[in-house]
Amino acid sequence: MDRLGDDIKAIKLYVAGQGAREAAAAAAKDLETTAPLVPGLFPPGSDSKALPGKSAAKPEIWDNPDDFQQLEQALTTGAADLRKTVDAGDVATIRDSMRSLAKNACGACHENYRGRKDGD
Ligand code: HEC
Repeated sequence: MDRLGDDIKAIKLYVAGQGAREAAAAAAKDLETTAPLVPGLFPPGSDSKALPGKSAAKPEIWDNPDDFQQLEQALTTGAADLRKTVDAGDVATIRDSMRSLAKNACGACHENYRGRKDGD
C-alpha cells in the first residue's frame, strides 16, 4: 500500500509539472505490477481487531468478499489504464485517469475498508 502511495505521488508530481517523465513512467509501471498483488495482502485474520496496532484493515472486508474483490479488480484495471496514459504522455489524460483510479479504487476501498490501527 505504501508503494502504491509513492507511485501515485510520483505521477502527481509529473502531472503538476514538477516531476520527471521517466519517474512517472517508472511509477506507473510499478503501480501496474503491484496492483495485482493486493488480493494477497489481506488474508483472513489480518484485520484490525485480530492485529490491533498493526493492521488498519476493517473486519468488514471479510463480510463483503465480492465487493472487496471488485475493488481489487478496479485497482488492477485502473492501474493498467493509467500506465497506458502515462506512456502516451498527454498530461490532461493522465490527470483524468489518475483521478478516476483514486476515486473508484483507492478512495472507494479506503472509505469502506480502511480503519485505524487501534481497531476502529
Ligand atoms: C481493495 C481495497 C484497496 C484498494 C483498491 C486500495 N487500498 Fe490502500 N489500503 C487498503 C486497506 C484495507 C488499508 C489498511 C491496511 C493496513 O494499514 O493494515 C490500506 C492502506 C493504505 C495506505 C496506508 C498504509 C499504512 O501502512 O498505513 C496507503 C498509503 C494506501 N492504502 C494507498 C493506496 C493507494 C494509493 C491506492 C490506489 C492506487 C490504494 N491504496 C488502493 C485497501 C485498499
